Amino acid sequence: MNISPLISARRVVALTGAGISKESGIPTFRDSDGLWKKYRPEELASPEAFRKNPQMVWEWYAWRIQLVRNAHPSRGHIVLAEMERHYPEFHVITQNVDGLHQRAGSRNVVELHGRIDRARCTGCGRVYEPAPIEDIPPVCSECNALLRPDVVWFGEPLPPDAWEMAVELASQADAMLVIGTSALVYPAAHLPVLAKSRGAFLVEINPSYTPISSLADITLRTGAGEGLDLIWKEVKEHVEG
Ligand code: OAD
Repeated sequence: MNISPLISARRVVALTGAGISKESGIPTFRDSDGLWKKYRPEELASPEAFRKNPQMVWEWYAWRIQLVRNAHPSRGHIVLAEMERHYPEFHVITQNVDGLHQRAGSRNVVELHGRIDRARCTGCGRVYEPAPIEDIPPVCSECNALLRPDVVWFGEPLPPDAWEMAVELASQADAMLVIGTSALVYPAAHLPVLAKSRGAFLVEINPSYTPISSLADITLRTGAGEGLDLIWKEVKEHVEG
């Protein structure tokens, strides 16, 4: 495995998806045991679903919020936090909404799909962190309107600042690690393509084939923790001589 471009890189970006948090016990979406195999996204993760049945949507989110609150960062999350301290510029761009990168110690994190443990008022826009889930569905203490999970649902645009930052980081990256994402959901899936087109060295870590696999300079068919450990060890050996 020749990872010299990653060893000499100054600007490194990691794009992460549900696979890295699977190793923290949080289900992915599209694996055989993933959430979208059991639940229909249009009934739980869309503005229409929320208008139709806020109680049901909140019950599902409250269950996932509890899962996340009880989870711990995985080895993969921890390695990425260590890498941030090593490289001059290192950012995580994540599609995950669980906050586990920050809990592992990463500071430069761009969240493309929001945060599950945060709620937002559908009336006045007030943000609640942590999301109150004692009474379901929760309402705003200021204006009494319904609160919603502060995540991106199907059919909704990404937070513009996060997306702008992600595009800038991907365009300028010397190397990008693509970890645990099926790379099927746009616009996030465009980022590795953009990075590669601007000359970045692309490393994919995923036990399964994805649309990024044919683009990647190196693909590790392992879980996130194992693959990141391997790469990180090589980078450190080089630095330490
Ligand atoms: P997916 O569920 O689509 O894909 C998970 C990926 O993780 C798959 O490619 C698996 O092969 C891989 N995987 C499984 N186990 C792994 C492991 N131990 N280590 C590393 N990888 C592993 O999840 P995402 O690509 O994150 O959107 O999904 C993207 C978006 O679709 C999510 O952010 C969510 C969902 O609908 C919103 O909620 C807006």
